[in-house]
Amino acid sequence: MLNNYDHIARYYDSLSRLIFFKSQVNAQVHQLRFLPEKGRVLIVGGGTGWILEEIAKLRPEGLVVVYVEISAKMMALSMNREIGGNQVDFVHLGIEDFSSDQRFDVICTPFLFDNFAPERAAMVFKQLDNLLKNEGLWLHTDFNLGERKEGKVTGRNGTWWKTAFLSLMYHFFKFAGNVEASKLINMLPYFVGADYKISEEKYYYRKFIQSMVFKKKNQ
Ligand SMILES: C[S@@+](CC[C@H](N)C(=O)[O-])C[C@H]1O[C@@H](n2cnc3c(N)ncnc32)[C@H](O)[C@@H]1O
Repeated sequence: MLNNYDHIARYYDSLSRLIFFKSQVNAQVHQLRFLPEKGRVLIVGGGTGWILEEIAKLRPEGLVVVYVEISAKMMALSMNREIGGNQVDFVHLGIEDFSSDQRFDVICTPFLFDNFAPERAAMVFKQLDNLLKNEGLWLHTDFNLGERKEGKVTGRNGTWWKTAFLSLMYHFFKFAGNVEASKLINMLPYFVGADYKISEEKYYYRKFIQSMVFKKKNQ
């Protein structure tokens, strides 16, 4: 199976904290302020599910969370989390096979797209775009190699250490989880192309980690 985190599920969080301290966590937790008091939230690739506990701290009730995760081991860990009074529907599927007749107020894709080859990234972007309500929010967190100046992406290859670091990570995750990507896709053009507006943009770990809040237009 591609993008299979089963073998490393138990160590994933420790590995992340060891290498990035809490940058990956902080990048996601900071965005949670954008969650509504009530509404439907789709989380794709939530990993061990720690984010469910962070959500419950900030929004102890009122949310219906649909949690789509492809790894059985990650899903098992997630199902043991303290979710407060929120409703969480756990869906053990690749997002490619997920569908819903109800759209979402918020979609979260934390470190999801860095797993994908370009064709899958394009397909999943379109699928999630269709699942988000007009004026809904898309909380997107991922690695970052580019610099942005006056709305344009420049310095696409980033500094040497980020490129080297990423290449090392891709080699490790190819070996440990059969991750299909070997190159980071810049997702910004997809959001810009679909007319999303940036509500917030923040960087962590010397700009190697980017967290973006995008707002879908009213079509
Ligand atoms: C890099 S980990 C990030 C985990 C978590 N978001 C975090 O920041 O701690 C990527 C997660 O996405 C999941 N994943 C990968 N491909 C997926 C897919 N096609 N559909 C749903 N989940 C997927 C993996 O199983 C893994 O849990």
